[in-house]
Amino acid sequence: MKRQLFARKSHAELIAQADASQLKRSLGVFELTMMGIGAIIGTGIFVLTGKAAAGTEHALGAGPALTISFMVTGFACALAALCYAEFAAMVPISGSAYTYSYYSFGELMAWVIGWDLILEYAVGNIAVAIGWSGYFASFLAGIGIYMPGALVASTGTEMAQLASGQWINLASAQAMNAEIVQTTTALFNLPAFLITAIITILLVIGIKESARVNATLVVVKLGLIALFLIFGLPHFNPDVHWENFAPNGWSGIMTGAALVFFAYVGFDAVSTTAEEAKNPQRDLPRGMIYSLLICTVLYIAVAAVLTGMVPLGVLGNEKPVVAALEAVNEHTIGFIIAMGVTLTMPTVLLVMQLGQIRILYSMSRDGLVGSNFHKVHPKFKTPAYGTIAVGGLVAICAATINIDVAAELTNIGTLFAFVLVAIGVFILRRTQPDIPRKFRVPWYPVVCAACVGICFYLMLALPWPTWVRFFLWMALGLVVYFLYSRHHSKLRHPSAS
Ligand code: ALA
Repeated sequence: MKRQLFARKSHAELIAQADASQLKRSLGVFELTMMGIGAIIGTGIFVLTGKAAAGTEHALGAGPALTISFMVTGFACALAALCYAEFAAMVPISGSAYTYSYYSFGELMAWVIGWDLILEYAVGNIAVAIGWSGYFASFLAGIGIYMPGALVASTGTEMAQLASGQWINLASAQAMNAEIVQTTTALFNLPAFLITAIITILLVIGIKESARVNATLVVVKLGLIALFLIFGLPHFNPDVHWENFAPNGWSGIMTGAALVFFAYVGFDAVSTTAEEAKNPQRDLPRGMIYSLLICTVLYIAVAAVLTGMVPLGVLGNEKPVVAALEAVNEHTIGFIIAMGVTLTMPTVLLVMQLGQIRILYSMSRDGLVGSNFHKVHPKFKTPAYGTIAVGGLVAICAATINIDVAAELTNIGTLFAFVLVAIGVFILRRTQPDIPRKFRVPWYPVVCAACVGICFYLMLALPWPTWVRFFLWMALGLVVYFLYSRHHSKLRHPSAS
């Protein structure tokens, strides 16, 4: 029994699987880097930054020291990226941390991590779709179109209509002391549902087309950040706004770090496309590390300018970048950025959904989830059936559940995955030292140990209800494994394949 649970795939088996892949190899280092940036820059920087700086009812704010929060999380992600890179170069088949675990820890742990990654990708996308719908609704309001309150937020959210006609969250309206015309309870978040449906269709049509759309939108996204920095910098006044640099000390910095971790989630999505990369062993590590580096520098710059240009109170809302520009009378730039975010944030959805499907594709190929997830569409050459199933579920959840629950679960799940990947590198260096590694983690084993330590520390900074949900989700995963997956595993029952 024990030997079966820890049954591992050999390196030769993995390479044979990669060679037999039916997916099209069309992605080079440029597309992979763009894909990483596409997945990284989104709700985290445009939505969560303000709350992390100013604080919320439940969490202390980091204040201007948010720049340090971004450095801490950026550093943790860089360590994780190095570990991912060693694996990606050694085991170049799709499935990311799931595949690496199958190889280093055996089947049970692979299942645990595959199940855990659903929190990162699918649940993460739920949070992003909801964040996007907020920007979309306010962009429409900016051009005088008001969506009904019942259709712009998660089921059960109390909504208020302002004198202008716009519907916003009742609690925010009360906090702003705004004049409320009427209230209602939201039924369904229609924009979040529709955007997920559109992304799903793009992914069914094909990865090359999707990568091209992604690259174009990423360029626009980088332009928006540049615009913010150019127009925000003249208002940067640290003498005034950075006077109290860390209002809640280290504790505020770490709470902020655990929250803005969401902003970095996604760089590892690059590693899920190994079977579609032209030269995965060379390009996957580069794609991940380049995209992470670019985003870290931009995030630190945005956090510094944002907290240095306005008082903290201006930032404690869902559109901190736009709110800050409006506060310094840069209304036109604020509107352009709101419009641009609406247009470009879907790249996060695109890459994350792609990542989720690739992981399920690998799990299905191994027999751990139903075989439809690895059926490739004859015309589009994409795993179309799995794409539609995942897209449908994410769309329904995005329309009905709460953004905070989704974002916190994403963070804890992703941090857990990083911890396991770092431990996996360590185990494989000891158990299989001779396998060719085209990329090796530098300063081994310090980097692996530091990755485990910092990621676990960040997990501890998340609130306890998130831990409870995390344990419940993982317990459900074990039930599924013992009732279904273990009986269908191709590694354990080769005759079934
Ligand atoms: N990093 C992605 C975002 O911030 C998930 O939206």
